Amino acid sequence: MGRQMKLGLSMVQNGTHLAAWRHPGSPLGGALDFKLWKRMAQAAEAAKIHFMFWADGAAVRINAKSDDDLSYNGRIEQFEPTTLMAAISAVTERIGLIATASTTYNEPYTVARKFASLDYLSEGRVGWNVVTSWSEQEAVNFNRDKHLDHSVRYRRAEEFFDVVLGLWDSWEDDAFLRDREGGRYFDPAKMHVLAHKGEHFSVRGPLNIARPVQGYPVIAQAGSSEPGQDLAARTADLVYTAQQNLAEAQAFYASVKGRLAAYGRSPDDMLVMPGAMIVVGETDEAARDKLAELEALIHPKIGMGILERTVGDLSAYPVDGPVPDLTGDGPVKSISGKTLRLAREQGLTIRQLYTRLSGGSGHYQIVGSAKTIVDEMEAWFLGGGCDGFNMMLPYYPDGLEDVLRLVVPELQRRGLFRTEYEGRTLRENLGLRRPAHHTGVPRSTRAG
Ligand SMILES: Cc1cc2nc3c(=O)[nH]c(=O)nc-3n(C[C@H](O)[C@H](O)[C@H](O)COP(=O)(O)O)c2cc1C
Repeated sequence: MGRQMKLGLSMVQNGTHLAAWRHPGSPLGGALDFKLWKRMAQAAEAAKIHFMFWADGAAVRINAKSDDDLSYNGRIEQFEPTTLMAAISAVTERIGLIATASTTYNEPYTVARKFASLDYLSEGRVGWNVVTSWSEQEAVNFNRDKHLDHSVRYRRAEEFFDVVLGLWDSWEDDAFLRDREGGRYFDPAKMHVLAHKGEHFSVRGPLNIARPVQGYPVIAQAGSSEPGQDLAARTADLVYTAQQNLAEAQAFYASVKGRLAAYGRSPDDMLVMPGAMIVVGETDEAARDKLAELEALIHPKIGMGILERTVGDLSAYPVDGPVPDLTGDGPVKSISGKTLRLAREQGLTIRQLYTRLSGGSGHYQIVGSAKTIVDEMEAWFLGGGCDGFNMMLPYYPDGLEDVLRLVVPELQRRGLFRTEYEGRTLRENLGLRRPAHHTGVPRSTRAG
Protein backbone atom coordinates (compact mmCIF):
# COMPACT_ATOMS: atom_id res chain seq x y z
CA MET A 1 0.00 0.00 0.00
CA GLY A 2 1.30 3.44 -0.91
CA ARG A 3 1.55 6.47 1.32
CA GLN A 4 -1.88 7.64 2.49
CA MET A 5 -3.30 11.02 3.40
CA LYS A 6 -3.91 12.25 6.91
CA LEU A 7 -7.25 13.97 7.35
CA GLY A 8 -8.29 16.38 10.06
CA LEU A 9 -11.37 18.52 10.44
CA SER A 10 -10.84 22.15 11.34
CA MET A 11 -13.90 23.06 13.39
CA VAL A 12 -15.21 26.52 14.16
CA GLN A 13 -18.52 27.63 15.69
CA ASN A 14 -21.24 26.98 13.06
CA GLY A 15 -18.90 26.30 10.15
CA THR A 16 -16.11 27.95 8.16
CA HIS A 17 -18.28 30.03 5.86
CA LEU A 18 -18.96 33.52 7.20
CA ALA A 19 -22.70 33.09 6.67
CA ALA A 20 -22.87 29.54 8.05
CA TRP A 21 -25.15 30.44 10.93
CA ARG A 22 -27.75 31.95 8.56
CA HIS A 23 -28.07 28.80 6.45
CA PRO A 24 -31.41 27.05 7.04
CA GLY A 25 -29.59 23.70 7.43
CA SER A 26 -27.47 25.05 10.29
CA PRO A 27 -29.20 24.66 13.68
CA LEU A 28 -29.54 27.98 15.51
CA GLY A 29 -27.33 27.92 18.60
CA GLY A 30 -25.39 24.98 17.15
CA ALA A 31 -22.03 26.37 18.27
CA LEU A 32 -22.97 25.64 21.89
CA ASP A 33 -25.12 22.56 21.35
CA PHE A 34 -23.16 19.58 22.63
CA LYS A 35 -25.55 17.08 21.05
CA LEU A 36 -24.54 18.46 17.63
CA TRP A 37 -20.80 18.21 18.45
CA LYS A 38 -21.26 14.66 19.68
CA ARG A 39 -23.07 13.69 16.48
CA MET A 40 -20.33 15.24 14.32
CA ALA A 41 -17.48 13.64 16.30
CA GLN A 42 -19.10 10.21 16.09
CA ALA A 43 -19.76 10.58 12.36
CA ALA A 44 -16.15 11.66 11.77
CA GLU A 45 -14.90 8.71 13.78
CA ALA A 46 -17.08 6.28 11.79
CA ALA A 47 -15.37 7.68 8.66
CA LYS A 48 -11.89 7.07 10.26
CA ILE A 49 -10.91 10.75 10.25
CA HIS A 50 -7.62 11.29 12.11
CA PHE A 51 -8.63 14.22 14.26
CA MET A 52 -10.85 17.18 14.93
CA PHE A 53 -8.99 20.43 15.39
CA TRP A 54 -10.05 23.67 17.07
CA ALA A 55 -8.41 27.01 16.37
CA ASP A 56 -9.00 29.38 19.26
CA GLY A 57 -8.50 32.73 20.87
CA ALA A 58 -9.58 34.07 24.25
CA ALA A 59 -11.61 37.00 22.95
CA VAL A 60 -14.28 38.08 20.53
CA ARG A 61 -11.68 38.54 17.80
CA ILE A 62 -13.56 40.71 15.32
CA ASN A 63 -12.44 44.12 14.15
CA ALA A 64 -15.71 45.99 13.72
CA LYS A 65 -16.19 49.72 13.37
CA SER A 66 -19.10 49.78 15.78
CA ASP A 67 -21.18 47.55 18.04
CA ASP A 68 -23.87 47.78 15.38
CA ASP A 69 -21.53 46.32 12.73
CA LEU A 70 -20.31 43.68 15.19
CA SER A 71 -23.87 42.59 15.89
CA TYR A 72 -24.15 41.10 12.39
CA ASN A 73 -21.19 38.80 12.92
CA GLY A 74 -21.81 35.12 13.70
CA ARG A 75 -18.29 34.51 15.00
CA ILE A 76 -18.98 35.48 18.59
CA GLU A 77 -19.60 32.53 20.89
CA GLN A 78 -17.75 29.25 21.02
CA PHE A 79 -16.78 26.54 23.45
CA GLU A 80 -13.40 26.81 25.12
CA PRO A 81 -11.84 23.93 23.15
CA THR A 82 -10.11 21.91 25.90
CA THR A 83 -13.41 21.76 27.76
CA LEU A 84 -15.24 20.64 24.63
CA MET A 85 -12.54 18.04 23.94
CA ALA A 86 -12.96 16.58 27.42
CA ALA A 87 -16.66 16.04 26.73
CA ILE A 88 -16.09 14.62 23.24
CA SER A 89 -13.38 12.28 24.52
CA ALA A 90 -16.02 10.59 26.66
CA VAL A 91 -18.31 9.79 23.72
CA THR A 92 -15.67 8.64 21.19
CA GLU A 93 -13.01 5.91 21.13
CA ARG A 94 -10.51 6.51 18.36
CA ILE A 95 -10.68 9.96 16.81
CA GLY A 96 -7.93 12.42 17.78
CA LEU A 97 -8.74 15.80 19.36
CA ILE A 98 -6.42 18.79 18.94
CA ALA A 99 -6.97 22.16 20.63
CA THR A 100 -5.23 25.48 20.36
CA ALA A 101 -3.71 27.02 23.46
CA SER A 102 -1.77 30.26 23.13
CA THR A 103 1.74 30.63 24.52
CA THR A 104 1.13 34.36 24.82
CA TYR A 105 -1.99 34.23 27.01
CA ASN A 106 -1.38 31.17 29.18
CA GLU A 107 1.08 29.89 31.73
CA PRO A 108 3.03 26.72 30.87
CA TYR A 109 2.10 24.86 34.07
CA THR A 110 -1.61 25.25 33.30
CA VAL A 111 -1.22 24.10 29.71
CA ALA A 112 0.99 21.12 30.62
CA ARG A 113 -1.49 20.03 33.28
CA LYS A 114 -4.62 20.41 31.14
CA PHE A 115 -3.24 18.54 28.14
CA ALA A 116 -1.82 15.76 30.33
CA SER A 117 -5.25 15.39 31.93
CA LEU A 118 -6.91 15.33 28.51
CA ASP A 119 -4.45 12.71 27.32
CA TYR A 120 -5.59 10.46 30.18
CA LEU A 121 -9.29 11.23 29.71
CA SER A 122 -9.05 10.35 26.01
CA GLU A 123 -6.63 7.43 26.50
CA GLY A 124 -3.94 9.08 24.38
CA ARG A 125 -5.85 10.93 21.70
CA VAL A 126 -5.10 14.63 22.21
CA GLY A 127 -2.88 17.23 20.65
CA TRP A 128 -1.87 20.78 21.51
CA ASN A 129 -1.81 23.40 18.76
CA VAL A 130 0.90 25.82 19.83
CA VAL A 131 0.14 29.36 18.67
CA THR A 132 1.52 32.76 19.55
CA SER A 133 -1.89 34.40 18.81
CA TRP A 134 -2.59 37.21 16.42
CA SER A 135 -5.31 39.37 17.90
CA GLU A 136 -5.12 42.63 19.82
CA GLN A 137 -8.47 41.72 21.36
CA GLU A 138 -6.81 39.00 23.39
CA ALA A 139 -4.16 41.38 24.70
CA VAL A 140 -6.75 43.65 26.28
CA ASN A 141 -8.37 40.70 28.04
CA PHE A 142 -5.05 39.77 29.63
CA ASN A 143 -3.80 42.89 31.38
CA ARG A 144 -2.08 44.45 28.37
CA ASP A 145 -2.80 47.50 26.23
CA LYS A 146 -1.15 46.01 23.17
CA HIS A 147 -0.31 42.63 21.70
CA LEU A 148 3.30 41.58 22.33
CA ASP A 149 5.66 42.05 19.38
CA HIS A 150 6.03 39.17 16.94
CA SER A 151 9.65 38.47 17.98
CA VAL A 152 8.89 38.59 21.71
CA ARG A 153 5.93 36.28 21.17
CA TYR A 154 8.13 33.73 19.44
CA ARG A 155 10.88 33.94 22.11
CA ARG A 156 8.23 33.40 24.76
CA ALA A 157 6.76 30.52 22.74
CA GLU A 158 10.13 28.73 22.51
CA GLU A 159 10.64 28.96 26.28
CA PHE A 160 6.99 28.14 27.02
CA PHE A 161 7.24 24.98 24.92
CA ASP A 162 10.41 23.82 26.66
CA VAL A 163 8.84 24.32 30.07
CA VAL A 164 5.73 22.35 29.08
CA LEU A 165 7.83 19.44 27.80
CA GLY A 166 10.00 19.59 30.91
CA LEU A 167 6.87 19.39 33.05
CA TRP A 168 5.50 16.45 31.07
CA ASP A 169 8.82 14.74 31.87
CA SER A 170 8.40 15.38 35.61
CA TRP A 171 7.92 11.65 36.02
CA GLU A 172 9.47 8.79 34.12
CA ASP A 173 6.94 6.44 32.58
CA ASP A 174 7.38 3.89 35.36
CA ALA A 175 7.84 6.35 38.24
CA PHE A 176 4.65 5.38 40.04
CA LEU A 177 5.25 2.19 42.02
CA ARG A 178 1.98 2.32 43.94
CA ASP A 179 3.39 -0.44 46.10
CA ARG A 180 0.60 -1.30 48.51
CA GLU A 181 2.75 -3.83 50.42
CA GLY A 182 5.75 -1.60 50.96
CA GLY A 183 3.68 1.60 51.18
CA ARG A 184 5.81 3.62 48.76
CA TYR A 185 3.87 5.50 46.10
CA PHE A 186 6.58 6.51 43.65
CA ASP A 187 10.27 5.99 43.02
CA PRO A 188 12.02 9.26 43.94
CA ALA A 189 14.85 8.52 41.47
CA LYS A 190 12.27 8.73 38.69
CA MET A 191 10.94 12.13 39.62
CA HIS A 192 12.56 15.08 37.81
CA VAL A 193 11.98 18.53 39.19
CA LEU A 194 12.35 21.02 36.37
CA ALA A 195 13.50 24.05 38.42
CA HIS A 196 13.26 26.32 35.39
CA LYS A 197 14.26 29.97 35.54
CA GLY A 198 14.26 31.82 32.25
CA GLU A 199 13.50 35.12 30.56
CA HIS A 200 9.71 34.73 30.80
CA PHE A 201 9.00 31.91 33.20
CA SER A 202 10.03 30.63 36.57
CA VAL A 203 8.58 27.17 37.15
CA ARG A 204 9.78 24.65 39.68
CA GLY A 205 7.58 21.59 39.09
CA PRO A 206 7.04 18.70 39.25
CA LEU A 207 3.71 18.42 37.46
CA ASN A 208 0.94 16.93 39.58
CA ILE A 209 0.02 14.32 36.99
CA ALA A 210 1.93 11.34 35.54
CA ARG A 211 3.69 11.48 32.17
CA PRO A 212 1.02 11.70 29.43
CA VAL A 213 -0.18 8.49 27.77
CA GLN A 214 1.47 9.52 24.49
CA GLY A 215 4.66 10.68 26.25
CA TYR A 216 3.86 14.12 24.93
CA PRO A 217 0.47 14.87 23.35
CA VAL A 218 0.78 15.46 19.59
CA ILE A 219 2.27 18.91 18.98
CA ALA A 220 0.69 20.98 16.25
CA GLN A 221 1.93 24.40 15.24
CA ALA A 222 0.32 27.12 13.16
CA GLY A 223 2.53 30.01 12.21
CA SER A 224 4.22 30.39 8.86
CA SER A 225 6.83 33.15 9.19
CA GLU A 226 10.54 32.32 9.44
CA PRO A 227 10.47 32.08 13.27
CA GLY A 228 7.16 30.21 12.97
CA GLN A 229 8.69 27.62 10.64
CA ASP A 230 11.76 27.29 12.88
CA LEU A 231 9.59 26.71 15.93
CA ALA A 232 7.65 24.11 13.93
CA ALA A 233 10.82 22.40 12.73
CA ARG A 234 12.09 22.06 16.30
CA THR A 235 8.84 21.18 18.02
CA ALA A 236 5.95 20.16 15.81
CA ASP A 237 4.57 16.78 14.83
CA LEU A 238 2.01 18.49 12.63
CA VAL A 239 1.85 21.86 10.91
CA TYR A 240 -1.40 23.60 10.10
CA THR A 241 -1.00 26.18 7.37
CA ALA A 242 -2.94 28.34 4.90
CA GLN A 243 -1.71 27.92 1.29
CA GLN A 244 -3.58 29.35 -1.68
CA ASN A 245 -2.38 27.12 -4.54
CA LEU A 246 -0.24 24.08 -5.23
CA ALA A 247 2.91 26.05 -6.11
CA GLU A 248 2.76 27.94 -2.79
CA ALA A 249 2.01 24.74 -0.92
CA GLN A 250 5.01 22.99 -2.51
CA ALA A 251 7.32 25.87 -1.60
CA PHE A 252 6.09 25.90 2.00
CA TYR A 253 6.34 22.11 2.29
CA ALA A 254 9.92 22.11 1.05
CA SER A 255 10.86 25.05 3.25
CA VAL A 256 9.50 23.72 6.52
CA LYS A 257 10.58 20.10 5.94
CA GLY A 258 14.01 21.34 4.87
CA ARG A 259 14.55 22.77 8.36
CA LEU A 260 14.08 19.46 10.19
CA ALA A 261 17.59 18.10 9.65
CA ALA A 262 19.07 21.00 11.63
CA TYR A 263 17.18 19.67 14.67
CA GLY A 264 18.18 16.04 14.09
CA ARG A 265 14.74 15.15 12.75
CA SER A 266 13.72 13.41 9.55
CA PRO A 267 11.09 14.69 7.08
CA ASP A 268 8.72 11.92 8.20
CA ASP A 269 8.72 13.24 11.76
CA MET A 270 6.42 16.09 10.76
CA LEU A 271 3.14 16.21 8.86
CA VAL A 272 2.23 19.29 6.85
CA MET A 273 -1.53 19.71 6.61
CA PRO A 274 -2.91 22.84 4.93
CA GLY A 275 -6.44 23.98 5.61
CA ALA A 276 -8.90 23.66 2.73
CA MET A 277 -12.55 24.63 2.69
CA ILE A 278 -14.39 21.88 0.87
CA VAL A 279 -17.83 22.37 -0.64
CA VAL A 280 -18.98 19.11 -2.18
CA GLY A 281 -22.16 18.26 -4.11
CA GLU A 282 -23.45 15.35 -6.17
CA THR A 283 -22.23 17.27 -9.25
CA ASP A 284 -19.95 20.27 -9.82
CA GLU A 285 -22.98 22.40 -10.50
CA ALA A 286 -24.77 21.29 -7.32
CA ALA A 287 -21.67 22.19 -5.31
CA ARG A 288 -21.41 25.63 -6.91
CA ASP A 289 -25.10 26.19 -6.14
CA LYS A 290 -24.51 25.30 -2.49
CA LEU A 291 -21.72 27.82 -2.25
CA ALA A 292 -23.81 30.46 -4.05
CA GLU A 293 -26.62 29.86 -1.55
CA LEU A 294 -24.23 30.61 1.32
CA GLU A 295 -22.69 33.60 -0.44
CA ALA A 296 -26.11 35.15 -0.91
CA LEU A 297 -26.45 35.08 2.88
CA ILE A 298 -23.42 37.29 3.53
CA HIS A 299 -24.94 40.41 5.03
CA PRO A 300 -23.72 43.67 3.42
CA LYS A 301 -22.48 44.84 6.84
CA ILE A 302 -20.16 41.82 6.93
CA GLY A 303 -19.22 42.27 3.27
CA MET A 304 -18.32 45.93 3.79
CA GLY A 305 -16.14 44.85 6.72
CA ILE A 306 -14.22 42.45 4.44
CA LEU A 307 -13.71 45.26 1.92
CA GLU A 308 -12.59 47.71 4.56
CA ARG A 309 -9.86 45.30 5.66
CA THR A 310 -8.80 44.73 2.05
CA VAL A 311 -9.33 47.81 -0.14
CA GLY A 312 -10.77 50.47 2.16
CA ASP A 313 -14.10 51.84 3.41
CA LEU A 314 -16.80 51.54 0.70
CA SER A 315 -19.79 51.76 3.04
CA ALA A 316 -20.90 55.10 1.53
CA TYR A 317 -21.48 53.46 -1.89
CA PRO A 318 -24.50 51.34 -2.97
CA VAL A 319 -23.83 47.64 -2.50
CA ASP A 320 -25.19 46.69 -5.93
CA GLY A 321 -23.41 49.55 -7.69
CA PRO A 322 -19.99 49.39 -9.35
CA VAL A 323 -16.81 49.33 -7.29
CA PRO A 324 -15.74 53.00 -7.22
CA ASP A 325 -12.51 54.27 -8.70
CA LEU A 326 -10.30 54.38 -5.61
CA THR A 327 -6.56 54.90 -5.35
CA GLY A 328 -5.71 51.42 -4.11
CA ASP A 329 -4.33 52.79 -0.85
CA GLY A 330 -6.08 50.24 1.34
CA PRO A 331 -4.59 48.71 4.48
CA VAL A 332 -2.31 46.37 2.49
CA LYS A 333 -1.32 48.31 -0.63
CA SER A 334 -0.16 45.41 -2.77
CA ILE A 335 -3.43 43.58 -2.21
CA SER A 336 -5.80 46.53 -2.49
CA GLY A 337 -4.34 47.76 -5.80
CA LYS A 338 -4.55 44.30 -7.36
CA THR A 339 -8.06 43.69 -6.04
CA LEU A 340 -9.42 47.00 -7.29
CA ARG A 341 -7.88 46.48 -10.72
CA LEU A 342 -9.53 43.08 -10.95
CA ALA A 343 -12.91 44.52 -9.88
CA ARG A 344 -12.76 47.21 -12.56
CA GLU A 345 -11.57 44.88 -15.31
CA GLN A 346 -14.41 42.48 -14.61
CA GLY A 347 -17.02 45.20 -13.95
CA LEU A 348 -17.86 43.83 -10.49
CA THR A 349 -20.38 45.38 -8.12
CA ILE A 350 -19.44 45.93 -4.50
CA ARG A 351 -21.49 42.88 -3.49
CA GLN A 352 -19.77 40.73 -6.12
CA LEU A 353 -16.35 41.87 -4.97
CA TYR A 354 -16.84 41.08 -1.29
CA THR A 355 -18.42 37.74 -2.22
CA ARG A 356 -15.25 36.88 -4.17
CA LEU A 357 -13.08 37.89 -1.23
CA SER A 358 -15.11 35.96 1.34
CA GLY A 359 -14.02 32.50 0.15
CA GLY A 360 -12.27 29.97 2.32
CA SER A 361 -11.59 32.29 5.26
CA GLY A 362 -8.05 32.86 3.99
CA HIS A 363 -7.58 29.20 3.14
CA TYR A 364 -7.73 27.32 -0.14
CA GLN A 365 -11.25 26.54 -1.30
CA ILE A 366 -12.28 23.50 -3.39
CA VAL A 367 -15.80 23.36 -4.79
CA GLY A 368 -17.23 20.51 -6.87
CA SER A 369 -18.23 16.88 -7.07
CA ALA A 370 -16.31 14.26 -5.07
CA LYS A 371 -14.29 13.51 -8.21
CA THR A 372 -13.31 17.16 -8.75
CA ILE A 373 -12.35 17.57 -5.10
CA VAL A 374 -10.38 14.34 -4.82
CA ASP A 375 -8.55 15.09 -8.10
CA GLU A 376 -7.35 18.33 -6.52
CA MET A 377 -6.47 16.79 -3.16
CA GLU A 378 -4.59 14.00 -4.92
CA ALA A 379 -2.61 16.50 -7.00
CA TRP A 380 -1.49 18.35 -3.85
CA PHE A 381 -0.71 15.12 -1.98
CA LEU A 382 1.22 13.39 -4.76
CA GLY A 383 2.76 16.64 -5.96
CA GLY A 384 4.70 17.33 -2.76
CA GLY A 385 2.31 19.97 -1.44
CA CYS A 386 1.11 18.26 1.73
CA ASP A 387 0.77 15.10 3.81
CA GLY A 388 -2.98 15.54 4.08
CA PHE A 389 -5.54 18.24 4.82
CA ASN A 390 -7.28 20.02 7.60
CA MET A 391 -10.69 20.02 5.97
CA MET A 392 -12.87 23.00 6.70
CA LEU A 393 -16.59 22.59 6.26
CA PRO A 394 -18.83 25.42 5.12
CA TYR A 395 -21.58 24.79 7.72
CA TYR A 396 -22.62 22.11 10.21
CA PRO A 397 -23.71 19.40 10.23
CA ASP A 398 -24.58 18.97 6.52
CA GLY A 399 -21.31 20.38 5.15
CA LEU A 400 -19.41 17.88 7.30
CA GLU A 401 -21.66 14.91 6.62
CA ASP A 402 -21.53 15.56 2.85
CA VAL A 403 -17.72 15.37 2.95
CA LEU A 404 -17.80 12.14 4.97
CA ARG A 405 -20.44 10.64 2.64
CA LEU A 406 -18.96 11.73 -0.70
CA VAL A 407 -15.28 12.71 -0.44
CA VAL A 408 -13.95 10.12 2.03
CA PRO A 409 -15.23 7.06 0.07
CA GLU A 410 -13.74 8.47 -3.14
CA LEU A 411 -10.36 8.90 -1.40
CA GLN A 412 -10.64 5.33 -0.09
CA ARG A 413 -11.59 3.99 -3.52
CA ARG A 414 -8.34 5.47 -4.89
CA GLY A 415 -6.33 4.00 -2.01
CA LEU A 416 -5.49 7.50 -0.74
CA PHE A 417 -7.16 7.11 2.64
CA ARG A 418 -7.37 4.25 5.13
CA THR A 419 -10.48 2.22 5.89
CA GLU A 420 -9.62 1.50 9.55
CA TYR A 421 -7.74 3.13 12.44
CA GLU A 422 -4.28 1.58 12.69
CA GLY A 423 -3.83 2.08 16.42
CA ARG A 424 -5.38 3.42 19.59
CA THR A 425 -3.54 6.65 20.29
CA LEU A 426 -3.43 9.70 18.05
CA ARG A 427 0.34 9.24 17.64
CA GLU A 428 -0.18 5.65 16.52
CA ASN A 429 -2.88 6.68 14.09
CA LEU A 430 -0.72 9.44 12.61
CA GLY A 431 2.29 7.14 12.32
CA LEU A 432 4.28 9.22 14.83
CA ARG A 433 6.69 7.81 17.40
CA ARG A 434 6.01 8.02 21.13
CA PRO A 435 8.79 10.31 22.40
CA ALA A 436 11.12 8.86 24.99
CA HIS A 437 11.50 10.52 28.40
CA HIS A 438 14.41 12.96 28.56
CA THR A 439 15.74 11.39 31.72
CA GLY A 440 17.50 13.71 34.06
CA VAL A 441 18.10 16.50 31.55
CA PRO A 442 15.86 19.50 31.99
CA ARG A 443 14.25 19.99 28.59
CA SER A 444 14.82 23.72 28.72
CA THR A 445 18.59 23.54 28.89
CA ARG A 446 19.06 21.17 25.98
CA ALA A 447 20.25 22.59 22.72
CA GLY A 448 17.96 22.08 19.72
C1 LIG B 1 -3.20 28.21 9.66
C2 LIG B 1 -3.01 29.07 10.88
C3 LIG B 1 -3.84 28.85 11.98
C4 LIG B 1 -3.71 29.63 13.13
N1 LIG B 1 -4.50 29.39 14.19
C5 LIG B 1 -4.45 30.22 15.26
C6 LIG B 1 -5.35 30.05 16.35
O1 LIG B 1 -6.16 29.14 16.39
N2 LIG B 1 -5.29 30.94 17.35
C7 LIG B 1 -4.39 31.94 17.36
O2 LIG B 1 -4.40 32.70 18.32
N3 LIG B 1 -3.50 32.10 16.39
C8 LIG B 1 -3.53 31.28 15.33
N4 LIG B 1 -2.65 31.47 14.30
C9 LIG B 1 -1.70 32.61 14.40
C10 LIG B 1 -0.29 32.21 14.78
O3 LIG B 1 -0.24 31.72 16.06
C11 LIG B 1 0.64 33.40 14.70
O4 LIG B 1 0.39 34.28 15.78
C12 LIG B 1 0.47 34.21 13.46
O5 LIG B 1 0.28 33.38 12.35
C13 LIG B 1 1.70 35.09 13.24
O6 LIG B 1 2.82 34.28 13.16
P1 LIG B 1 3.48 33.94 11.76
O7 LIG B 1 3.90 35.27 11.25
O8 LIG B 1 4.58 33.01 12.12
O9 LIG B 1 2.45 33.27 10.88
C14 LIG B 1 -2.75 30.68 13.17
C15 LIG B 1 -1.92 30.88 12.06
C16 LIG B 1 -2.03 30.09 10.93
C17 LIG B 1 -1.10 30.35 9.76
